[in-house]
Amino acid sequence: MSERGTGALVVRGGTVVDATGERRADVVVDAGRIVGVGPSVAAPSGARVLDASGCVVSPGLVDLHAHLREPGGEAAETVESGARAAARGGFSAVVAMPNTEPPVDCAAAVRAAQSLAVGACVEVAVAGSITVGRAGVQLAPLAEMAALGVRIFTDDGLGVQHSGVMRRALEYARPLGVVLAQHCEDEALAAGGSMNEGEWSSLLGIPGRPAAAEEAMVARDLALVRLTGGRLHFLHLSSGRSVALVREARASGLAVTAEATPHHLCLSDSELRGYDPVYKVNPPLRSARDVAAVREGVADGTVDAVATDHAPHPRESKDEPFESAPPGMIGLETALSVAYGALCLPSAERGGPAGGPVAPGWLADDASPRLALAGLLGALSWRPARIAGLDAPGGTDGGRGGHGGPVAPGSVAHLCVFDTAARWTVDAASGSSRSANTPFAGRELVGRVRHTVVAGEAVVVDGEAQR
Ligand code: DOR
Repeated sequence: MSERGTGALVVRGGTVVDATGERRADVVVDAGRIVGVGPSVAAPSGARVLDASGCVVSPGLVDLHAHLREPGGEAAETVESGARAAARGGFSAVVAMPNTEPPVDCAAAVRAAQSLAVGACVEVAVAGSITVGRAGVQLAPLAEMAALGVRIFTDDGLGVQHSGVMRRALEYARPLGVVLAQHCEDEALAAGGSMNEGEWSSLLGIPGRPAAAEEAMVARDLALVRLTGGRLHFLHLSSGRSVALVREARASGLAVTAEATPHHLCLSDSELRGYDPVYKVNPPLRSARDVAAVREGVADGTVDAVATDHAPHPRESKDEPFESAPPGMIGLETALSVAYGALCLPSAERGGPAGGPVAPGWLADDASPRLALAGLLGALSWRPARIAGLDAPGGTDGGRGGHGGPVAPGSVAHLCVFDTAARWTVDAASGSSRSANTPFAGRELVGRVRHTVVAGEAVVVDGEAQR
């Protein structure tokens, strides 16, 4: 992320929500920082006004988990297009996953990835892989990559299968002060499967990946964290039992954190009934009971963060037959709206197919606890900012840092302005991502990001990317 324009801005008429609470306030920004917050603060003359009436103004969102595909997968996404999609989703920073081609598994690859991020319209923090080539055999040079500012290491797309390798990774990472992030799927259990193993996989005749594949690796890794005193983050938890294991481990004082994706918070394996590969994802969409349990995990704070697992794929690959299509769905532009509907709104107000009733799959009849918007913003902004080390001034990779707030004088001006009443129908073709593989296409969502400010620059205004 390069240095920003320095023109003054006023975000006027909104309700500020950050980790310190909620208040009616205008926000004045100058030279990249917040300089005034209050019901009627004076703005520098000539300041650009961003209307926020009826909107919530929060610190910019932070995504712990985005696949930006560059280098190697530019047909699906580039850092530039992915960053623009992130900005339209209200994000001021994203962590870019290292499963590129080649993967980010050494200092030279980190430098190359960081140089791609320099001109992006949001801060892009580069994650490194845990093992060389993400092959799960030999530890990657974590210290070398950490010295370049890398704070998160993961072989995501794959879990580290070998317990001994994972033990050494946790031991080696500990003194570096970095976080290992695990994609929890035991390959021996999941191999050959394309959806959740259960009633629906039997009905559809699609081989399954059991929830036990995730739970077994979560349980193993908790044992390894206990053994090593290491620091671990669980990526995209999808099973209720996994959430229960993490809940219990945290109660006993283990240093673990966890995330869940918007899609695992609202879609269950019944969506697969049309054999549409757009619903194919790893870990797979689980049972309605799992969805409810993961929601409960976010509501009670066991699951610290909501992260997108934005996984763009070119149209032709997602047009393949179900079992040969690649797993993954895009999510940066819809994350806040989808999670808001799933966690904060009563089912009758949650939206659905355009003009129609609540869609099946939105679990209209579930009784999960509802979460206040501030709780969701914590899971999408200040908690992930802390996990990724993006809250600190200076941030990573030479970026500006200071993500996650508070919205107060002196903070770097990263803001998300969210219109909670807006209703919109997702049109994948008009998104900023190079890919269109979203299961929410054609669905009506409630709540929409209106403006995004990154380091004082209005990068999205009234839903439109400014560059
Ligand atoms: O569905 C997924 N797609 N899950 C992952 O963990 C990786 C991702 C991808 O890179 O496409």
